[in-house]
Amino acid sequence: MQTVISWHEHRVERQARAAQKNQRPCVLWFTGLSGAGKSTLANEVEQCLFRFGHHSFLLDGDNIRHGLNRDLGFSDGDRAENIRRVGEVAKLMTDAGLIVLSAFISPFHKERESVRQMFAEGEFIEVYVDAPLETCERRDPKGLYRRARAGEIRNFTGVDSVYEPPLHPEIHLRTHLHSASQCAERIVQQLKLHGYLRSYPRS
Ligand code: ADX
Repeated sequence: MQTVISWHEHRVERQARAAQKNQRPCVLWFTGLSGAGKSTLANEVEQCLFRFGHHSFLLDGDNIRHGLNRDLGFSDGDRAENIRRVGEVAKLMTDAGLIVLSAFISPFHKERESVRQMFAEGEFIEVYVDAPLETCERRDPKGLYRRARAGEIRNFTGVDSVYEPPLHPEIHLRTHLHSASQCAERIVQQLKLHGYLRSYPRS
């Protein structure tokens, strides 16, 4: 197909937007089974960033599937498209200078790596929210595991759809061993340690 669209450079540059917000934009990409604690942790971290005066936005699987991705289901192909679109949105938001938190199961290694490739070195922070399937199933906050086991829901991650754990996540949290606030604290400490929450130099 012939390309008849061109790219327009913005007059306000990416770095200027980040500098105005006094932060280093990045995406915290939470991945893990349903019920592992992705949304809970992402929310805790975002509240903390907000209190520190940072500018962030949380993209959450359940919410995005009500709007932008309401045309997608849970086949492998639809999940891949879900993650591709969320990656693009996260990219736009970091271009706008924000710290983005995304909480999607994002079960496949390939799509997570594709999203990683969209970002500059160090801008994509993979956070593996790890809890054994039995723990997630016991928590079952939305009653979905029970329904999946009863055959009412098909292609449920961990039941009859695969979850590929990250091989080299930047942050690995075991939510069955540590409390949500301990895990959130660890993420914020990592962000501080690696300079994400320091002032961004004005050019
Ligand atoms: S992903 O696999 O495409 O990344 P996403 O994070 O957007 O999934 O959505 C997962 C949420 O959708 C779950 O937390 C759960 O509430 C709901 N859900 C409904 N059906 C399924 C299913 N078949 N597998 C996993 N989650 C499902």
